[in-house]
Amino acid sequence: MRKPIIAGNWKMNNTAASGVALIEELKPLVRNVFCDVVVCVPAILIPAISEAVKGSNIKLGAQNMHWAKKGAYTGEISADMLKEYGVEYVIIGHSERRTYFGETDETVNKRTLAVLAEGMTPIVCVGETLEQRINGETEAVLSRQLSLGLAGIDRIKKVIIAYEPAWAIGTGKTATDSQANQAIGFIRKKIAELFSPELAEMVRIQYGGSMNSKNCKGLMAQSQIDGGLIGGASLKAADFAKIVNFDK
Ligand code: 13P
Repeated sequence: MRKPIIAGNWKMNNTAASGVALIEELKPLVRNVFCDVVVCVPAILIPAISEAVKGSNIKLGAQNMHWAKKGAYTGEISADMLKEYGVEYVIIGHSERRTYFGETDETVNKRTLAVLAEGMTPIVCVGETLEQRINGETEAVLSRQLSLGLAGIDRIKKVIIAYEPAWAIGTGKTATDSQANQAIGFIRKKIAELFSPELAEMVRIQYGGSMNSKNCKGLMAQSQIDGGLIGGASLKAADFAKIVNFDK
């Protein structure tokens, strides 16, 4: 039995003030839930949100991390910087980073290995573009992203995968329940091939892409889907809380 995990990805939204207000509103709404609850916030908000979530069941996540311990990497953030504030999860390889900031399968792999080595949990994002889906390349793209991105990992059980088809992100176009379940089933099959069938059954795989308070029940009812990575709908406490309470 895989424990569901619902994570908010705030992307480049909120300030410390509005973020803390959002967490305060969220706390009572998500108190008694069965799933893991995570908020992945912009780096500069981490100190404030770290304070705000103290004593609650909301866990803190970052949106990126560099693989080096420290050094001349202007604009990057290290594991020690995140751990100092109790960050437990790090999103790696989001499609927006792949598209706009030159993230590759190789850098995804380096970051993922570093997050694991530092004792945190990577949320590794994979997914195809609209063009790739139309051309029937979805499985080939997912295979490549997984085999390169997860190369050399010895703790696959700890890794969370987020299947985020780029065409469904921020577009209001959600993958249908069965499209999402099918792609995630394929990802699990690929993990079985790369690691083992037993380990593949333990890995939690989220869906992300216009998931909201209305479509979350259908998606979460699918056999292969273990959670959600939520963008837009994580910016409103009531909406995010409804997703976290999907089983009620
Ligand atoms: P939206 O929920 O806004 O489509 O974003 C999904 C996403 O990219 C989460 O990482």
